[in-house]
Amino acid sequence: MRRRIVAGNWKMNTTYAEAMDLVEGLKNALTQEVVGDTGVIITPPSVYLSDVVGALVDNEFIAVAAQNVHEKDNGAFTGEISAPMLSSLDVDAIIIGHSERRQYFGESNESCKVKIGQALNNELAAIYCIGETLEERQSGNFMEVILNQCAEGLEGFIADDMDNIILAYEPVWAIGTGEVATPEQAQEVHAGIRAWLAERFDAETAENVSVLYGGSCKPGNAAELFAQPDIDGGLIGGASLNAEDFTGIIKARTNA
Ligand code: 13P
Repeated sequence: MRRRIVAGNWKMNTTYAEAMDLVEGLKNALTQEVVGDTGVIITPPSVYLSDVVGALVDNEFIAVAAQNVHEKDNGAFTGEISAPMLSSLDVDAIIIGHSERRQYFGESNESCKVKIGQALNNELAAIYCIGETLEERQSGNFMEVILNQCAEGLEGFIADDMDNIILAYEPVWAIGTGEVATPEQAQEVHAGIRAWLAERFDAETAENVSVLYGGSCKPGNAAELFAQPDIDGGLIGGASLNAEDFTGIIKARTNA
């Protein structure tokens, strides 16, 4: 059964004190009633992961993810962080292929494929991000771009692997811009991704993979997005930095 998930991507934000305050705020706000059967994931900057995981040891609602991972297990790669390191901290998941990493750090579908493999090999879930730029949207071939990201990033994986892979559709033109995809635009892409999953794997796998929407998702627009049949939840940037806003989005998911 595919899961409803609301994940927060904190990106390169928060001081240590702010991060720990945000965790406390979420711990207080997220009760069984608020969370329901929604899976909640937060993704703080890597330097805080250890303390955030520690602060959530007794919390049953909030899982913790990293924002990136290196392709190799270890070695002379100054400044990088590996999947075995994240696994040793009891991190639950890794965001892979965020458009900001593709845009500013040269990540390709090929490197994402390797990173997804690293996550899975280390018992971490992968949240694989895909999505088109404004130019690609305007050119009309955005679906081709997105499905190519799916095909290349997921090359070689089998249906069973998809149990630990979450997809996040994030139109680049909607990220941090305040411009949100309409529910119809997002649903069209999500349905296309699910149809592709059915063809690439099988109908059951397509039905079971969680496909999240990301891009200016806020408490005020989350419910109409989550009401779409193929939108299983959200990957939230800016609004995940505020406990009240993030909780509002989780409530929208739980109650949709
Ligand atoms: P915003 O919610 O700030 O648009 O960011 C979305 C995003 O990039 C989440 O990964």
